[in-house]
Amino acid sequence: MNLKGRYLLEPMDFTMEEMDYIFKLADKIIQSPERFMHACDGKLLATLFYEPSTRTRFSFEAAMLRLGGQVIGFSEPNSSSVAKGESIADTIRTVACYCDIAVMRHPKEGAPKVAAYATDMPIINAGDGGHQHPTQTLTDLLTIHREKGSFDNLTIGLCGDLKFGRTVHSLIKALSRYKNIKFVLISPNELRIPDYVRREVIEKNNIPYTEVEKMQDVIPELDMLYMTRVQKERFFNEEDYIRLKDSYILDAEKMQLAKKDMMVLHPLPRVNEIAVEVDSDPRALYFKQAKNGMFVRMALIMCLLGVEKEFMED
Ligand code: NCD
Repeated sequence: MNLKGRYLLEPMDFTMEEMDYIFKLADKIIQSPERFMHACDGKLLATLFYEPSTRTRFSFEAAMLRLGGQVIGFSEPNSSSVAKGESIADTIRTVACYCDIAVMRHPKEGAPKVAAYATDMPIINAGDGGHQHPTQTLTDLLTIHREKGSFDNLTIGLCGDLKFGRTVHSLIKALSRYKNIKFVLISPNELRIPDYVRREVIEKNNIPYTEVEKMQDVIPELDMLYMTRVQKERFFNEEDYIRLKDSYILDAEKMQLAKKDMMVLHPLPRVNEIAVEVDSDPRALYFKQAKNGMFVRMALIMCLLGVEKEFMED
């Protein structure tokens, strides 16, 4: 397996075997993190965040620091030459003069791809507009892998803003490769999954799916419920956002209808869509999931820098 020098723009950039390789390394890191304290000594990660972030940026930074590497970057693009009108290609060519690997989040769909094509340095898409968020998908899959040991035979409910939610688009793509998957798409009519995802991913792979508006009716059949926030920043007018923002609230009462081992995931940040009372339910995995995000990003960074080989031997 060799992922050295590769980029990650969308989940399908890696084969299922390559994904398994990353999860295997993440498992090793979780088991004994101290072994990895110097895995990236002398390496430098750039974090280029043109959009707000807590988990993604912090988990990448924490990941690199825990591997012994260092981090530079911005979370406020107006503090860099972006404010002077520099193109993404020029910014990334410059960053590549100083760093070994870069992570980019951008409000425009495709921006990390423009960056990846402008340099040989590995580029990781940390979310591009309403399009894709492949490292969140690695996080989600690692969480499923650690809970269930397999990705097959799952009925997966995705609930909330399926239109603008890039985490949902990436997760559906990645899960479409596993066996005997079924999707239950729960959203208000206005926030249904985009046609390109439905046609080119779900229908093309002959995956059974249903689209519903009410969560209560379908919750008993789910093995996993993936909750999402209504993506305020992608709405064209505030009235629509206000009308739709509280479409779904998962609470203890609804959890009573669910299977005893239904996994509840959420990429976070949560706004109102999961009542705080659900946090103490053992099926609520979202904070565990956030922690897994750091471990899987440690594994990803190591693989793209090609420093993982010696750790994979035993
Ligand atoms: C998600 C994102 O940025 O798309 N957050 C994250 O990275 N964990 C989800 C969201 O913002 O709703």
